[in-house]
Amino acid sequence: MKNDQYNVQKLDLHDVCAQFGTPLYVYDADVIKRQFEKFNQAFLGIDHKIMYAVKSCTNLSIMKYMLTLGAGIDTVSIPEIKMGLKIGFKPEKIVFTPNVVEFFEIRDAIELGVSVNIENLQNLEAFGREFKNSCPVCIRLNPNMLSEIESGKADLSSLNFVSINKEHYDDVSKEKVVAWHNQSKFGISLIQFDKVLKLVKKYNIRINGIHLHSSHVILSEEVFEKGVKTVFKIAKLFDHLEYVDFGGGIMVKHHPDDTVIELDKIGKILKKEYDKFCVSIGRKIQIWFEPGRFLLSESGCLLAKAVVLKTNGFINFVGTNTGFNHLLRPMMYDAYHEIINITNPDGELEKYNIVGNLCEIDNIGTHRLLNKVRQDDIIMIKNAGAYGFSMSSNYNTRPKPAEVLIINGKARLIRKRENFDDLIRNQIELDF
Ligand SMILES: Cc1ncc(COP(=O)(O)O)c(C=O)c1O
Repeated sequence: MKNDQYNVQKLDLHDVCAQFGTPLYVYDADVIKRQFEKFNQAFLGIDHKIMYAVKSCTNLSIMKYMLTLGAGIDTVSIPEIKMGLKIGFKPEKIVFTPNVVEFFEIRDAIELGVSVNIENLQNLEAFGREFKNSCPVCIRLNPNMLSEIESGKADLSSLNFVSINKEHYDDVSKEKVVAWHNQSKFGISLIQFDKVLKLVKKYNIRINGIHLHSSHVILSEEVFEKGVKTVFKIAKLFDHLEYVDFGGGIMVKHHPDDTVIELDKIGKILKKEYDKFCVSIGRKIQIWFEPGRFLLSESGCLLAKAVVLKTNGFINFVGTNTGFNHLLRPMMYDAYHEIINITNPDGELEKYNIVGNLCEIDNIGTHRLLNKVRQDDIIMIKNAGAYGFSMSSNYNTRPKPAEVLIINGKARLIRKRENFDDLIRNQIELDF
């Protein structure tokens, strides 16, 4: 905010909205670069690769910008791999980390030459049967081990995986959507690790990577340290290991009270354990990361127009021209996104529920203090760069917004706004 105006790289966001319309996703390339450099900096001294999790913002231009910064990409579908190859990522800079996919996707990814990550015993067996040791593969372990360690329920220091009491895995998480709880579908659970070893032996599988996407589980540096130590113990079991992939899950603050892990601190912890590990096996391995939200979240915002102001006698509503069809996170995860009125920065603070225009409960933010909102003011929903557009839909038959990247002081359109034809493009109207 400068001279009472919200700018990105000196561009007044009102001008950007006037040029491209609303609702509009706007990303600031300088912020992406800053975050990328911060990430890199934290792990200097470790031979590492940053594989941008493209699911967080699957736009060709954003991906290409990551390529110029030196990133690789983490993909979860064959089209994501093909997008990466199309814009110039070399196969060795692409990792495929899908979930519960049919085996043909694993086979296709191998044919495309990218690193493949297997996260269930069924596909590991199919891989062994078909490929034996003709190509290497990475296995994804279920990071609930970290919460197990944290809660003191599991002592993995002995590596006695099979003895972990299965009851621990039957705790039902009451939370709506959590990536890593004890009933998580992700990865191969450590209590099945003996089965992994049996398959590896049976088919002579060459495990070249261990993957551990920790998601929100990294709540503290101590937990991270325990997790790292455990992973390196597991890593010693595989003679062909080339890398350990820690996935993503590094948070950025959405709310001033959010606690986030300090990247520099975990960088130091990792460096110490990494050095020890490399010495112990007598060679170097790589460390991979797959950050999504850390790189993109703060770079992006969703700009919407206040179109209807109404009250029900108790609550004042700001009705916007967007909704959970464009930004799902508040409704899906109860995610907090800071919301500001950029058109009236000096207005009196008033309390509002900021809502979307879908015929559904569609809260973007409730009981929020905003500078007085007037019809046609531009409302900025912050931290929307990651899992914003990429999770959008056409629900209520509404077009998806345009996307703009501000780079070198210029606002560049990187995705056109959808129109009516886009909405009905694949529908088939039968004659009766
Ligand atoms: C396997 C994997 N890697 C990386 C990521 C990116 O996570 P984040 O955006 O939290 O960094 C995810 C997110 O779901 C994931 O599932």
